Amino acid sequence: MARILITSAIPYINGIKHLGNLVGSQLPADLYARYMRQRGHEVLFLCATDEHGTPAELAAAKAGEPVAEFCAKMHAVQSEIAAGFRLSFDKFGRSSSPQNRKLTQHFAGKLDEAGLIGEVSEKQVYSITDGRFLPDRYIEGTCPNCGYDKARGDQCENCTKQLDPIDLIEPRSAISGSTDLEVRETRHLYLKQSQMRGALTEWIESKTDWPILTTSIAKKWLNDGEGLQDRGITRDLDWGVPVRKGDQPWPGMEGKVFYVWFDAPIEYIACAAEWAEETGQDDAAWERWWRTDRGADDVRYVQFMGKDNVPFHTLSFPTTIMGANRIEGEAWKLVDYIKAFNYLNYDGGQFSTSQGRGIFMDQALSILPADYWRWWLLSHAPETSDSEFTWENFQVSANKDLADVLGNFVSRITKFCRSKFGESVPDGGTFGPEEQALTEALTARIRAYEAHMEAMEVRKSAAELRAIWSLGNEYLQSSAPWTAFKTDPDRAAAITRLSLNLVRIYAVLSRPFLPDAAAEMLTAMHTEDDSWPDDVPAALAALPAGHVFTVPEVAFRKITDDERDEWQAQFAGTRD
Ligand code: MF3
Ligand code: ZN
Repeated sequence: MARILITSAIPYINGIKHLGNLVGSQLPADLYARYMRQRGHEVLFLCATDEHGTPAELAAAKAGEPVAEFCAKMHAVQSEIAAGFRLSFDKFGRSSSPQNRKLTQHFAGKLDEAGLIGEVSEKQVYSITDGRFLPDRYIEGTCPNCGYDKARGDQCENCTKQLDPIDLIEPRSAISGSTDLEVRETRHLYLKQSQMRGALTEWIESKTDWPILTTSIAKKWLNDGEGLQDRGITRDLDWGVPVRKGDQPWPGMEGKVFYVWFDAPIEYIACAAEWAEETGQDDAAWERWWRTDRGADDVRYVQFMGKDNVPFHTLSFPTTIMGANRIEGEAWKLVDYIKAFNYLNYDGGQFSTSQGRGIFMDQALSILPADYWRWWLLSHAPETSDSEFTWENFQVSANKDLADVLGNFVSRITKFCRSKFGESVPDGGTFGPEEQALTEALTARIRAYEAHMEAMEVRKSAAELRAIWSLGNEYLQSSAPWTAFKTDPDRAAAITRLSLNLVRIYAVLSRPFLPDAAAEMLTAMHTEDDSWPDDVPAALAALPAGHVFTVPEVAFRKITDDERDEWQAQFAGTRD
């Protein structure tokens, strides 16, 4: 049994996330967490809301609420939606927690001790119209690297380059659109990322098993010389973690807060502390996940994120961890594996939070249960390239995979049994070459499914699972128990007994993808035996003759053409 720490990139607090955000981190992280738990490993799965920075302040202002209240409310909203999608976080924390405040100040102090913090008098964009400094994201302009005209001050969405607001060509205020900007002097702390170049390069080079998407982005920024520029980690804002050096004041930094991208990844650690507190455990309970001197040396730590987050997780956050670890007594866990995703597009364009384009998590749940979305999103995860959501594709995929393949198998065999033998597993008959062939095919496919799940190959896992469901239908088709019943009822009983056992196996195997349907299938089969089919022949006999079941409700109804058209029209515009 291994110990696996899993984090999903923490979503911004300022609004409900769209399906592109969901499939880029939280959902595949959940798939992996559920699978690893099912295989008997000890898992700690963490996510949180990313609550600091200008976006939160501005969203609160727009809602006419104090920012702390706004964040508390939106955290509750996001938690509920996450629960609706069955995201199985051990803790859904908040980057504004006292734990994160303390840890962020702690890390800053240690980085300073390690000589990795500099103080510079910096020129910062001030908006005269808005009466405030305009940090990072709230300056827009043209990217100096690729020429994209809607680049933000912190990062260009188009080429993923990390930027400084001052680099932008033709900058304007994203709040008011005003170009009446001036540059003013202000003092800020800088993280000397450039001093970590050697250590980071060596570390990334050693990760030969990482997905190309992750290492290529990391190497690009390491090698182009600019990706590792020293970065400002403080801001002139009110809302955030106050700048302190551990528990001491930081002279000259009064009234400033840490930059949101400095404290957000530290929340991965703080979230474990929040989890320990919530579950009534002491510090040792979370430190054994995060401190290599307190047990975390045998933890495998896996992060999930969209590709735009990769530079922060391969350069900035590792600088925080490795830098702090240079100080005696500090021994923080570095990530072992980073799984990154491309973007999901929506019906010929991009999903966009700012423009309200696409389907948002709450809307999705209001039209169909979570399993439909989980299945489509995971089976079309943007792994090797961007992928696209269309209503046609969604309808076809749900109707074929879920209704025609899995749903049909379950309902066909349970109804057949009820009509010929009653609602219990029938006795009698023997197995022959067809069952032998099925067992072998099933074993091969289950082993392949396990390998893909271990490797976090999401689409391949989904394809393998679908193929496993198909084996059941093919078996029913060729063994034809309805025909056998007329001449050899014992043979029909044997086929039925084996097929009913497949229903239980399908529930167990499908659970990481389809937690609700899996639970319904196990309930219908009147069993709590959710053991993994390590030994397929044994698993095919888990429900013995005489075991009672109930024909389940149809788990997956089909999406009609009318519904598809209606939804397509409903979601064609933008959300206000
Ligand atoms: N909120 C960021 C985003 O949605 C992700 C933050 S991940 C963390 O892009 F590492 F900083 F926590
Ligand atoms: Zn760019």
